[in-house]
Parts: sequence; C-alpha cells; structure tokens
Amino acid sequence: MSARILDGKKTAAEIKEQLATKVVELKRKGCIPHLSVVLVGEDPASKVYVGMKQKACEKIGIQSETIRLDAGTKQDDLLNLVSKLNDDEAVHGILVQLPLPKHIDSKKVLELIRPEKDVDGFHPVNRGRLAIGEECFLPCTPAGIQQLLLRNNVNPEGKHLVVVGRSAIVGLPFATMMMQKKPGANATVTVCHTGSGDLKRYTKQADILIAAAGRPNTITADMVGPGCVVIDVGVNRVDDPDSPKGYHLVGDVDFEHVKEVASAITPVPGGVGPMTIAMLLSNTLQAAEKSCK
Ligand code: GUN
Repeated sequence: MSARILDGKKTAAEIKEQLATKVVELKRKGCIPHLSVVLVGEDPASKVYVGMKQKACEKIGIQSETIRLDAGTKQDDLLNLVSKLNDDEAVHGILVQLPLPKHIDSKKVLELIRPEKDVDGFHPVNRGRLAIGEECFLPCTPAGIQQLLLRNNVNPEGKHLVVVGRSAIVGLPFATMMMQKKPGANATVTVCHTGSGDLKRYTKQADILIAAAGRPNTITADMVGPGCVVIDVGVNRVDDPDSPKGYHLVGDVDFEHVKEVASAITPVPGGVGPMTIAMLLSNTLQAAEKSCK
C-alpha cells in the first residue's frame, strides 16, 4: 500500500489562516507587524525564496520590505544596515538571506541581529536558549517539521526519530528540539552524519526518519523500515532539459520507491518548504506581539 502524503502546502495554509486572524487583532491594537528581508547579490535560489517570503507576508497582512543590495556590497555597509534595522522600532523581524557573498563574514552579520528580532532563530542567543530548553525563536524549518508532524497526527513522543544530517539550520536544532521533555517532542533521537558509516543500520530502526543531508537519493527504499514516517527536507536542483526552467527539484529521498514502504511521506516540492515559510510568519508575529505589548 502506498504511503499517506503529508501535504505541507495544505497544512501551511491552515496555519496561515490562523495567523491572519492574529494579524487583524494586532492591527486593531495599532501594531503593524513588519518583517525586513535583506538580500545581497543575485543567487537565483535565494531570489526565489525571498520572493516567496515577501508574498506570504503580504497575503496575511504582514508588512514586508525586501532590501536588495548588490553582490559587491561592503561588509561594513551590511552591518550598518542591520544596526539601523535593529534600532527601528517599526521593524519587528530581520532576516538576512543566506548564503552571503564570500567576502562577507555571515557569522558577524547574524550575531549583530538583535535576538528579539531574529525571526530565523540563527543568533547564538536563540541557539543557546534552544539547547537548554528555554523560550526562543525556533528556526523555521525544524519548527515547520514539528508542526507538519503534529497537525497530521504523528506525535514524536516515545518514538525513535532518526535524523540524517547535522546542519546548523535543520539537523542539529531539530534533533535538539525532539529530545526535549516537552509536548510534541520527547523522542529518542539518533543523529547520523558523514561520519556514521553504514546509514542503513540506523535508518532501518526509525519510526520517524528525517532526511536532511542535501543530496538526492540519500534515502532509498531498502533503508526504510515498514510503516516509517519519512520527512524529506532536501531541495536539490536536477538538470532537466524538458522543463521550462531547465531543472526540476528533488528531495533527499527516492520518493517513488520509499512511498511503497513508508506509512507517510512528504513530497518535494510541497512538503517541508511551505511549512518553513509559515513558521517565518509565525515567528514574525511572535516578535511583533512581544514588541507591541
Ligand atoms: N537560506 C536558505 N534557507 C534559509 C533560511 O531559512 N533563512 C535564511 N536567512 N537564509 C536561508
């Protein structure tokens, strides 16, 4: 039997509808939620992502501006812009799209964003708070995966959750969230990475498998146990001369074969991606709510 499809687009739409109500309430109190997005350079994928974020904000009534800087922008000029946004009371959330050009030290830029405006959850203060289980901005993709699971009646509590990939923006924070003794978490977590050797040895044991390695076909059907819930975080461009864009997107999972073994699976696109954007909106509203109190 083929797996249930976990539809991120549909779940994200439900969340956005709820958030739109919150925006109306905030505006009634005289608070206009505002997200400033900074895009440096011409990275084609970044341009697409930033456009999607801006559109999603507008759709639910969050005010959003995208500040576009050219690829040769000096680091000091970018730092000055971040300082200006930090000091601007009308700005509730700041997002600097990554990757930044090579001559800019991303760490320095991210560390300058005030933690109260860090809606990406990338600032060391928010990362540290997450690590010790304190209230913080959760990074958007891990938060989105958790919501996708819970809103589709997959509760990680008591489950064996295997994460493939230990990136700072997905694998590591998601594993951290899931091992905590909190509702919607409290899982037994295994984290696999490039040093793990035989991945299958671990992935076969998963009740919930998170593929976040950034490589197509990292997870094949023989690596998945029957009934496993499979979340595919990968977004990989594969050359496709038949497509108008010249490429198509695939995840990290061999979807066609894995769906015959799994009990539930996310598609790419239309799985985790829309959830990430919904969580960015949610974090921005959280920032606005706190600031407007
Ligand atoms: N580049 C790819 N994903 C992200 C993200 O979630 N936030 C930012 N700022 N840049 C990204």
